[in-house]
Amino acid sequence: MTDRTVTVIGLGPMGRAMVNAFLDRGYQVTVWNRTAAKADELVRRGARRAATVDEALAANELVVLSLTDYDAMYAILGPATTALSGRVIANLSSDTPEQAREAATWLAERGARQLTGGMQVPPSGIGTPDSATYYSGPADAFEAHRQTLEVLTSADYQGEDPGLAALRYQLQMNMFWTIMVSWLHTVAVARTHGITATEFLPVALKTADVAQFLEFYAPRIDAGDHRGDVDRLAMGEASIRHVLHTVRAAGVDTTLPAAVLDAFQRGMADGRVDQSFTSLVEVFAADTAVDGRDAPAPVRARP
Ligand SMILES: NC(=O)c1ccc[n+]([C@@H]2O[C@H](COP(=O)([O-])OP(=O)(O)OC[C@H]3O[C@@H](n4cnc5c(N)ncnc54)[C@H](OP(=O)(O)O)[C@@H]3O)[C@@H](O)[C@H]2O)c1
Repeated sequence: MTDRTVTVIGLGPMGRAMVNAFLDRGYQVTVWNRTAAKADELVRRGARRAATVDEALAANELVVLSLTDYDAMYAILGPATTALSGRVIANLSSDTPEQAREAATWLAERGARQLTGGMQVPPSGIGTPDSATYYSGPADAFEAHRQTLEVLTSADYQGEDPGLAALRYQLQMNMFWTIMVSWLHTVAVARTHGITATEFLPVALKTADVAQFLEFYAPRIDAGDHRGDVDRLAMGEASIRHVLHTVRAAGVDTTLPAAVLDAFQRGMADGRVDQSFTSLVEVFAADTAVDGRDAPAPVRARP
């Protein structure tokens, strides 16, 4: 085994980009994927295809997992428990902080150590200098493999708790998906009026650039300062109602603006009419949403 060897399990768009980045840097890469054909192109580029998960685990101390979620990890590694001993599993799959902690314990019981990873870039960002990944887990395991992991992106180590990297990642994804879905929803409304996504793009880009708002409001939020000198919740409530009616008139699904309106109205009911919309952060923290609004917890399969 040399330093420049690694195993990658999971060859979706992210895993394939990871293998390509390692190959570009001259690494010897062993790969395994449930759907074996996804390895074909990588094998043509020089990757070694492991016939079994055990073989993939045996090839290297560092094993990078790039899977849809941690359930996929249990499905793949569950039957391979003896081969796990002595491995460092860099789990770059998305899941909750609780799942990351549970998995670290599960792996430790089988003699392996987990580095949780939360990659902050799409496949095109892997192997590029400005990209970053959150990591957490045993510091010595991280330091031992830092150089290899930094072939993929720069590494932002958060600490020993295996849940920390997952937490940072989910905080980011909470914003990311909401922003992206609100953009898609707006495009759906625009299209009913003959405005294409491309035509709308300059406005979308300008609107998505909310840096000045975040920079202005973040220190105020931290100071508990929700004074309504710049905006009032009542103004925001009226504004989002106008949005909702515009969406409804276009015949487009109103779920998203209705959810935003609901948050504003809960703030109003909480006596915050003359406060800034930032006071919603306190309303959210109080978790006043009606029962059943949250998505059901996924059913977790265990080997
Ligand atoms: N794509 C992005 O832009 C992006 C950006 C940042 C982070 N991420 C995160 O990175 C991870 C990988 O992303 P991706 O886009 O490559 O994901 P993906 O398309 O969901 O593919 C992930 C891999 O998981 C495997 N898999 C899923 N369920 C399985 C099961 N039950 N048993 C065995 N294998 C299973 C798939 O195997 P098969 O090929 O056999 O289906 C595939 O190799 C995800 O956690 C994602 O949230 C993605």
